[in-house]
Formats: sequence, C-alpha cells, structure tokens
Amino acid sequence: MSEKPPQAPPFDEAAYARGREILVSVHGVKRFFRRGDEIVHALDGISLNIYRGEYICVMGPSGSGKSTFFNAVGGLDTPTEGRVFIDGVDMAQLNAEELAFLRCRKIGYVFQQFNLNTTMTALDNVTLPMVFAGVAPDESRARGMALLAKVELEKRWNHRPKEMSGGQMQRVAIARALANNPSILLCDEPTGNLDLKSGREVHELLHDLNKNGGVTVICATHDPNMLAVSDRMVWISDGRIARIAESRLVKIERNSLGAESGE
Ligand SMILES: Nc1ncnc2c1ncn2[C@@H]1O[C@H](COP(=O)(O)OP(=O)(O)O)[C@@H](O)[C@H]1O
Ligand SMILES: [Mg+2]
Repeated sequence: MSEKPPQAPPFDEAAYARGREILVSVHGVKRFFRRGDEIVHALDGISLNIYRGEYICVMGPSGSGKSTFFNAVGGLDTPTEGRVFIDGVDMAQLNAEELAFLRCRKIGYVFQQFNLNTTMTALDNVTLPMVFAGVAPDESRARGMALLAKVELEKRWNHRPKEMSGGQMQRVAIARALANNPSILLCDEPTGNLDLKSGREVHELLHDLNKNGGVTVICATHDPNMLAVSDRMVWISDGRIARIAESRLVKIERNSLGAESGE
C-alpha cells in the first residue's frame, strides 16, 4: 500500500465514538529532540482518542514519529509538551513507581526486533514481567506455559532465542507482552522483520487477541493483512496526524501472497 492516504470519507469522530469508551487519550503531545544545533520535531502536536477494544494501525514513512508516539503512549518516554491519559490517569502525574506499575500491568510491548533476553529460555522471557509484578513462581510458571500454549510454542518452552526462528521469537515476545494481562498492546512494526508466513501468524494472533481477548491493539504497520482487520487507520507525517480513517471505508489492496480474498 502506498504511503499516500487513499481516498475515504472524512473521519467522523463524534459518530465513531458513540457507544465507545476512551481508553487512551493523547492531548497535544509534542516531543522534540536536539540533534547538534538542530531541534527535531519528532512529534509536533498529536491529539488522538483510542477506544477500548479498538485495533488501530498507525502508518507513516520512516522517521515520521511512529515509534516516538508509541514510546509516549507506553510511558517509555516523557513528551516535551502535552498529556497522555491511560484509563483516565494522567501519566505525567505518576511517580516513577506508579508509572512502572501501570506500564507493567496495563501495557504490553511488541517490537520489530523482538527484544527478547537472548540468554533466557522462552518461558523465562515470558515470566519475567510477572516477576516484576510480584507473581509467585508456581503461578508465573503455569501462566507462562499457558501463554506459550496460546502462541503454540509450549513445546519450545526451554528454547533460547538463538534456537528459534524470527516468527517464533515474535510469538514469544507477544506471550511476554501478555504476561500481566494488559488491556493495551503496543506493537511497533511487529512483522517488519518476518517472512510472509510468520508475519501472517503474528497478525492472526494479534487479531484473535483483539477480537476474542478484548485487548486494544495499537500497531505501527503497513502490512495489508493487518490493515484489513483493523478498525481504524491513522497516518502520521512529520510528527502530526495527517489523516484518520475507518478501515472498513478504505479500499485495502492486499499483496498477492498475503491475500485471502480480493477486496
Ligand atoms: N532519541 C532520539 N534522539 C534524536 N532524535 C530522535 C530520537 N528518537 C527519534 N528521533 C528522531 O525523531 C524522528 C521520528 O523518529 P521515529 O519516531 O523513530 O520515527 P518512525 O518510528 O516513524 O520511523 C526522526 O527524525 C528521528 O531521527
Ligand atoms: Mg519506528
């Protein structure tokens, strides 16, 4: 799909919001970085409501601010200006401990590079966030195995990342992101390093977690298979929202290998 927003009717926020509950609210977020003498406006005034149970795809060229946006929403970084509310809580008002608590329990992260601990087994990677949350060892082991079963890797519980394929590593990373039963999954180009088949497994998993697990998925991607199952698409350009569209109103061209049905 091209980087240019395709034609779709203007987004009607009031109509879309009806009957929905706001889960994440981003208000005028700016994030500036200093690079030598230059100030980079990575985010230049982003405002967006994300509703509970939504599947949102964030698109935009490399350098447009997608990862910076995810870091702000996930509390991994503090905006230069503006506010991010999660479930009505202003993240800027939290102290370090409260922020760590919220991040650990409400938000799961999935990265393009998997970011697994390479010296640990799949199970230990998955249970690590439970250790931070104070879950007892027996329970975390049982929950970790259940999560590995969910991503169809229970037989590989004692494999380390170097013994796994990219697709398997990403599925472990998704199981880890689910460790503390978060309401939000932030996925930053989760299929960017995967072949088509593994990418499809990952997008099917994310789709299932959203539709059947009630997890709100916010995903930076240009993968047509993900766009096709999303509720909304948000285009970011130069640190601003260039466009928002309901996915059902956008014609999404699936690539031939990834296509299941023509649209
Ligand atoms: N820590 C940083 N220091 C300096 N510049 C940064 C930093 N993080 C991101 N940027 C810059 O901010 C802009 C947006 O980056 P990023 O959010 O990573 O974009 P995307 O994920 O869409 O590729 C880019 O110009 C990038 O170089
Ligand atoms: Mg990025």
